[in-house]
Amino acid sequence: MLGHAVRLGRRPLDFLASLAAHGDLVRIKLGPMPFYVLCDPDLVHRVLVDDRTYDKGGAIFDLVRTVAGNGLATCPHDDHRQQRRLLQPAFHRDRLPEYAKVMSAEVAVMLDGWTESRELDVLATVNEFAATLATRTLFAAELDDATFEELRLCMHTVMTGMMRRMLLPWSFLNRLPTSSNRRFDRARARLRQYVAQLTSDYRRAGVDHGDLLSILLAVRDDQGQGLTDAEIHDQVFTFYLGGSETSAPALSWALYLLGRNPDIRKRLHDEVDTVLAGRIAQYDDIPNLRLTHRVIMESLRLYPPGWLFTRVTTKDAELAGRRLPAGSVVVYSPHIVHHRADLFPDPERFDPDRWGDDSVRLPRGAFTPFGSGARKCIGEDFALTEATLALASIVARWELDPLPEAHTRLSPRLSATPRSLPMSLRERTPSTIPTGVVPLPGKPAGTAVRTPGQPAGEVGSGTHRKRSRGVAGV
Ligand code: HEM
Repeated sequence: MLGHAVRLGRRPLDFLASLAAHGDLVRIKLGPMPFYVLCDPDLVHRVLVDDRTYDKGGAIFDLVRTVAGNGLATCPHDDHRQQRRLLQPAFHRDRLPEYAKVMSAEVAVMLDGWTESRELDVLATVNEFAATLATRTLFAAELDDATFEELRLCMHTVMTGMMRRMLLPWSFLNRLPTSSNRRFDRARARLRQYVAQLTSDYRRAGVDHGDLLSILLAVRDDQGQGLTDAEIHDQVFTFYLGGSETSAPALSWALYLLGRNPDIRKRLHDEVDTVLAGRIAQYDDIPNLRLTHRVIMESLRLYPPGWLFTRVTTKDAELAGRRLPAGSVVVYSPHIVHHRADLFPDPERFDPDRWGDDSVRLPRGAFTPFGSGARKCIGEDFALTEATLALASIVARWELDPLPEAHTRLSPRLSATPRSLPMSLRERTPSTIPTGVVPLPGKPAGTAVRTPGQPAGEVGSGTHRKRSRGVAGV
């Protein structure tokens, strides 16, 4: 009756990783439905670049569509090219420095609230940070705390509800008026209502707030047509979902892995002490935060936040010598390929130095935390910037160690999120002359790098300017 749903539900990552031993393309069943799981990098690549044959669809996207409608992440191939062209400018590299200002400001707000403690709920803290950042970059408008908290809870209800539905998509239980189904419907309706209200406020005011919503209101297609309110809702939800649900687990796993690997953490301290000397990381620091970047890449390899995606064949296709009739559901999970020992030796080991050399050559489809092909994550640069600035700034000032109660089995969410991540929090004093650090070119050892335009007095001050939540969007 349930097929592999129970094993996938109980230990999803272990179950998926175990499939690679059964072949390059493995057929599993969830309920009565067959799913074809890709376990080989070349197959992953072939499927992801042929988005005409392997279109968005299947349980996950059908579910996300119930909330995000026909937004960029869920729309079919036929609508995708045009949507992507319209929305791409919002994620152009040139915009990153402006987004980074909001990121650094939000990191400072988060860290200002930290005090030494035996237990920090890292998941809650980082989720709030990512959700706030997603909101601030989407809407420059001020949200009062009560509205913000309500939206966060609605989002949480919708996310957990979607995961439950995904595991048993055929179940009539999802349509019964149970209290959890009613909560799900209420939360979804509230989110829709909120975005509609905000959109009409923006249209009425006619002001460019310099945020994503303003861009969505300004875009025009070749015929000069703008987006309808319904289309704007779908894109807003898509970006909120993409922006908060993935960045939070990425940062949480990185902190967890550093806590479990004190040697690497020590090296990272040396790097951030040299580059930041205790201050909040800024966009211009990023090229100097090389180990930070490698730590993030390795965390994304071990725990890719997007752990399960589906595609549906639009016509008969052939994969790994197997005929797939039109309408077959194909599954790709970066987790499977990222844990193959032939591609990543000693795959369970957290080893950021795998990414140390620019000449690292992997087969196509081997490393896909952001997907690949035309449907590759539009927010990749945004996400890497956010993770780098946040991780470096945290590590510069704080030492976090996972408590024994940390529960790294996945919580039932769309993104791979640990169930709970309590960590102890100890303030550290950045060392001025870290041991074993090669000074950056042109700088004596122990000299903090000053970002262009930053007054010399701010370097290494180690103080964070407290700022109200009302930061402008970008
Ligand atoms: C660590 C953070 C992130 C990870 C791991 C991630 C991962 C992914 C993956 C794997 C896909 C492809 C899904 C598929 O093939 O079906 C994707 C697509 C997408 N992501 Fe991200 N993402 C991240 C951050 C973001 C951010 C910050 C945003 C926006 C602010 C975003 C927006 C999107 C959108 C709109 C798509 C759909 C792109 C398209 O189909 O053209 N993501 N993401």
